[in-house]
Amino acid sequence: MAVRSILRMGDPRLLARSLPVEQFGTVALHALIEDLFDTMHAHDGAGIAAPQIGVQLQVVIFGFERNLRYPEAPPVPETVLINPTIEVLGERLEDGYEGCLSVPGMRGLVPRYHAIRYSGYTPEGNRFERTADGFHARVVQHECDHLAGVLYPKRIRDLARFGFIEELSAS
Ligand code: NI
Repeated sequence: MAVRSILRMGDPRLLARSLPVEQFGTVALHALIEDLFDTMHAHDGAGIAAPQIGVQLQVVIFGFERNLRYPEAPPVPETVLINPTIEVLGERLEDGYEGCLSVPGMRGLVPRYHAIRYSGYTPEGNRFERTADGFHARVVQHECDHLAGVLYPKRIRDLARFGFIEELSAS
């Protein structure tokens, strides 16, 4: 439908908590999801959350076969996840560099839980759950953080590991 403009860090709308979707299968919900996919694909994103395009609803999408922004990442199933919840499986944390379409040009080293179980709803309102680990689990945690108004720089423990992509990869 349309590539939407992406809010960038500093916009207070990125710090708000999103609201649960109450009506499934609607034209408006399908249009939102289509816009999210168009916007994510236009920027080679691994995922995107509705608040990043200014829609304060608990809708995230993610997934790719191969991703230009994360060439080392294994495939992640293409997923629409609505009203998600995450359960941590084990306490193991893993550091990894991540970026965000709302923080363009930058990367930071962020600890995330290695393994999770996540659940939520499809656009038609069917509940599903999945377990995930590694990069897949990282993407889900990153996107769900957006729904709580959390951007990844807030989770960086060592700001020496936060910077512009070119500078980080040159060092
Ligand atoms: Ni993001």
